[in-house]
Amino acid sequence: MKPTMMPYKRHAIFCCGKSCGEQMPLLNYLKDRVMQAGLIVGDPNAVRVNRAGCLGVCAQGPIMVVYPEGVWYCNLDEAAIDQIVEQHFKMGEPVESLMFYRYG
Ligand code: FES
Repeated sequence: MKPTMMPYKRHAIFCCGKSCGEQMPLLNYLKDRVMQAGLIVGDPNAVRVNRAGCLGVCAQGPIMVVYPEGVWYCNLDEAAIDQIVEQHFKMGEPVESLMFYRYG
């Protein structure tokens, strides 16, 4: 038997590693903003948010990677999270000014 996958549009993996400052309050802010934006299961733009340990690029944390685009964000703060939720998660347009890498 295989697991059932919930119908998320995106997966946001947020680093809570030591060198990124173990930013649990900022992770919780991200989760709250996603909920407030209605990006939950049932919405076509639903986002699954998970925390991670070190993602291997600690220099300008906090770091977050978003799939399926494979977009990496750095230097995150509340204002950056707000912009990512509005522009990337809701509109499907990654925030170029906050990106430092993209797969492909
Ligand atoms: S601790 Fe966040 S990328 Fe290393």
